[in-house]
Amino acid sequence: MRAFIAGLPKAELHLHIEGTLEPELLFAMARRNGHALRSESIEALRAAYAFDDLQSFLDIYYEGAAVLRTEEDFYELTRAYLERAHAETVRHVEISFDPQTHTDRGVPFGTVIDGISAALDWGREELGMSCGLILSFLRHLPEEAAMATLEAALPYRDRIVAVGLDSSEQGHPPRDFVRVFERARAEGFRVVAHAGEEGPPDYIWQALDLLGAERIDHGVRALEDAKLVERLRTEQIPLTICPLSNVLLKVFPEMAAHNLPELIAAGLVVTINSDDPAYFGGYVNANYASIADALGLDRSQLAELAAASFRASFLPDADKRAHLDELAAYVKASP
Ligand code: ADE
Ligand code: ZN
Repeated sequence: MRAFIAGLPKAELHLHIEGTLEPELLFAMARRNGHALRSESIEALRAAYAFDDLQSFLDIYYEGAAVLRTEEDFYELTRAYLERAHAETVRHVEISFDPQTHTDRGVPFGTVIDGISAALDWGREELGMSCGLILSFLRHLPEEAAMATLEAALPYRDRIVAVGLDSSEQGHPPRDFVRVFERARAEGFRVVAHAGEEGPPDYIWQALDLLGAERIDHGVRALEDAKLVERLRTEQIPLTICPLSNVLLKVFPEMAAHNLPELIAAGLVVTINSDDPAYFGGYVNANYASIADALGLDRSQLAELAAASFRASFLPDADKRAHLDELAAYVKASP
């Protein structure tokens, strides 16, 4: 099964670039940028990666992201992720980035996006991957700050496919961001939003009806609301599920308790993603392997999840078809 997953063509649609910052690179950047760290060693830092919930993770994640200062830092971070993704037969990625995490520390928006974009261009040319960029607003900050971020992004409009909403979910409902998403849609951005990770199903309704989300990041709590499941099923609104993240952040007590089989059985479009792989113990193939092991998914189910990842992407239809053809040929040729 590991070999089958390793060669399975797939897309990754829920990936925070700041969440790919491995401790080794984090330490190297801290050293060269003269940034003091609380942890004395890479081992001590890794040992601190034990989380009780989303917020306890976010505190460490934002602290880690503070080592990123220069365009070169963002380039190196993004290139390292693309190399790993390529090695895991990821054909297409839609990468989220959190500009406010950096602009609030005085790093210009242009520095962040120029570094990331240069690496994406490298990935397109050298690895033959296709890449999209999703600008994610931090929901623990006010809507005015999100609006200022959207305005800062407009000169870079052609490099960004979608806007999203992430960070602390509880107490920060999508309804607080209606105006900024309205403006983003008017500017032609596609829309995704984190909802139903820790927050209630009502936040998923709000993401759909008030923000115009075309895809829900996580969304695992949808199963608590039968009407919502019906809506997601009839409109085939994709969920970007991150199994290792959900277990590490205690959304589920263990992988065997994940509700992925129920989401699939309900007829929902579900995809498998790594969220913040440097913090959750594995990249996208480890996520596929963990659900295969703990939930007993077979090859055809894994292939269907990979197919859904292409269908749920923001790629043009012709590109989706080409990836689905490659995937079908791979499955047929697999012993
Ligand atoms: N930012 C990075 N990872 C996140 C997650 N899993 N939920 C919300 N915000 C995030
Ligand atoms: Zn996420």
